[in-house]
Amino acid sequence: MKIAFFSTKSYDRESFTLHSANYDYQLSFFDVSLDHRTVNLAEGHQVICSFVNDPIDEFILKKLDHFGVKLIALRCAGYNQVDLSAAEKLGIRIVRVPAYSPEAVAEHAIALLLTCVRKTHKAYNRVRENNFSLEGLTGFNIHGKKIGVIGTGAIGKAFCRIAKGFGAEILAYDLYESEEMKAIGVTYLPLAQVFEQSQIISLHCPLTPQTRHLINADTLSLMQKGVTLINTSRGALIDTKAVIKALKSRKIGFLGIDVYEQEEHIFFKNLSEEILDDEMISRLMTFPNVLISGHQAFLTHEALEQIATTTLESVAAFERGEFLKNEVKAS
Ligand code: NAI
Repeated sequence: MKIAFFSTKSYDRESFTLHSANYDYQLSFFDVSLDHRTVNLAEGHQVICSFVNDPIDEFILKKLDHFGVKLIALRCAGYNQVDLSAAEKLGIRIVRVPAYSPEAVAEHAIALLLTCVRKTHKAYNRVRENNFSLEGLTGFNIHGKKIGVIGTGAIGKAFCRIAKGFGAEILAYDLYESEEMKAIGVTYLPLAQVFEQSQIISLHCPLTPQTRHLINADTLSLMQKGVTLINTSRGALIDTKAVIKALKSRKIGFLGIDVYEQEEHIFFKNLSEEILDDEMISRLMTFPNVLISGHQAFLTHEALEQIATTTLESVAAFERGEFLKNEVKAS
């Protein structure tokens, strides 16, 4: 079985090479994303493995079908980038990795939070220049603060467990309340009350039509002055223009984000020699109280191992003609 990997980085290549040792597969790694120009690289492979920003439309699917590809293994949870009905018509099966280390993302959210409020990134730079002054480095305790958690699924739950360890009070909002979270002392409240009462807010719900721009001028107006906002979920949960206004008016005290509304044009690439055209991220980067990471919350050895093993197991199950538990279908 020959598998063509698109949009690969060194960590994908290392992880898949390591975990494929027990399988008799030939792996071809391509740096480029899968698109209309690069799809011909799939010729000669029976399986394609793509990532979150590889759009798989009908044109690409027809080409893949022509090359004899029968399985597309998405090494991510989301599948909105795939034309599932076109795949179904062509008989191409689609599998994904539904969950990989929620703790990886929750711990990164905590890393963003602590870095923002204790300014360790600034201390690191200062000390390297022999500047041992503490001026401007005053932070605040997480202990005793009210943290609003929006979405208590796998990642939100992991975040709540860690935050409880800090001695914070957790106020949560989800469409479905978790008994497990209530048992550890999480209090569910209506969304507006979570916004009003929390000093720190961390977003862990998916991007849906209902949650797009969940953080907007109206919801920001409910929040406390100086609120700390953390987003490791999806960029479009935040109306970036409204957040920039709230940063300018000092309504937001700290903003820590791992995701950004227009990230597909920027993230996962080294643009250090380029002129950035994106005015909003450039503006965000001018604020001393904004911390941005480039969608790296998932990036731990444990999560990469889970992504590789789940993907390879799906390919093996497909090869043996078994039921595909991680298959996604149009209907
Ligand atoms: P999950 O499906 O386990 O949990 C999502 C929770 O959000 C569920 O409890 C659901 O009821 C709740 N929810 C849905 N709509 C809601 C709404 N309108 N308001 C409040 N809550 C709502 O998903 P999981 O694994 O916890 O992931 C959460 C999000 O984290 C994903 O959707 C994804 O966007 C993001 N993510 C980010 C990664 C990164 O590297 N930065 C990596 C993996 C996921």
